[in-house]
Amino acid sequence: MDIIKIYDNSDKLYYIGGVVRDKLLGVESFDIDITCIGNAIEYCAKFGKVIQENPEFGTIRVEVDGRAVDFASTRSEVYEKKGHLPVVTKIGCTLKEDVMRRDFTINALAMNVSTGEIVDYTGGLKDLKNKKLRVLHDGSFVDDPTRIIRGLKFRVRFGFELEEHTRHLQEDYLKNINYDMSYKRVKKELIETFNLNSQHAFEIFVNEGIYKLVSPAEFKLPEVNIENLIKKYPVKNIWPVYVGLLPDLSRLEFTKEERKIIEDFRSIGSVKTDFEIYKAFDGLAAESILLYGIAKNMNAAVRYLDVLCGIKISLSGNDLLKLGIEPSPKYQEIFDYILREKLKNPALTHDDEIQLAKEYFTVN
Ligand code: CTP
Repeated sequence: MDIIKIYDNSDKLYYIGGVVRDKLLGVESFDIDITCIGNAIEYCAKFGKVIQENPEFGTIRVEVDGRAVDFASTRSEVYEKKGHLPVVTKIGCTLKEDVMRRDFTINALAMNVSTGEIVDYTGGLKDLKNKKLRVLHDGSFVDDPTRIIRGLKFRVRFGFELEEHTRHLQEDYLKNINYDMSYKRVKKELIETFNLNSQHAFEIFVNEGIYKLVSPAEFKLPEVNIENLIKKYPVKNIWPVYVGLLPDLSRLEFTKEERKIIEDFRSIGSVKTDFEIYKAFDGLAAESILLYGIAKNMNAAVRYLDVLCGIKISLSGNDLLKLGIEPSPKYQEIFDYILREKLKNPALTHDDEIQLAKEYFTVN
């Protein structure tokens, strides 16, 4: 097949999961997963340079044709602790058993690497055609609630819908969430979902109560269209501009940068004048300012991002020293005074600022 060049006629190797789905949908795949009936570590090292092996899961990553390919031994799993990583019960099981541990039928298709034949044990082809997301069994979301967010991601990414019974299972789970789950996996799915920058995703997330997986208290959809806002004011980290709005984020583990975005947003008080807006937002990440705009005061956020952030005073401590002013808390007072003046009149030159500083110091 033309996904990647692997010469093998053993019938042991099958493209599996997202790569088959994407191939049939005609979209590009992020990664290539191949399942090997039997032991992938023993069988697949010959296909290229071995990048990494994980004997516990029976997986091996090999560079084939310039791309990293993940070969996994067929395996069956059980969710001994619901909501957490499953435990491998058998390595080298049948292809059918391997397929049955997966999330949605569209992700449970296999494609023979040498013949291209599709193996469909769960009705994935029909669901792919009808754009439906269907779980493989009733306990799927209980086993792994991150699948609810994965479902949202695939709905938005491919324009699919939840099949009716699956929708009921989601509703049931969201009425009775077990908060003892792996939030590391939840976070990964939130990132992948909200980095798509989709207002539609956020509306589903809020309207269907999926947000309750993270933050249990009632949350109302903000009036602002966040997708358009981010298109107008691009940010480095998109997903916190959505997820950061939730009131209870204590379950998620943030990087330092992400935590700062959220803490800064939460600590901004009410602002009215240009000077207050400037002082509150200066030096903050655009993400924090957008969050503040969405949750509290959009006029202030837009005023800063459109106009005020481009205004800087050029007066420095050195200039004040040259004026014979000794370093003291007075410096900050003078800088603030100059800033107020500059916000009123951005055309002030460096010389104007020095002149104003002199006058201010003489009077005060
Ligand atoms: N899978 C699952 N339950 C999860 C995560 C993954 O059953 N919580 C299964 C799915 O069959 C999925 C496969 O593992 O297709 C690989 O997972 P992953 O690479 O995360 O997803 P992809 O489907 O490849 O999606 P993406 O295109 O977003 O990478």
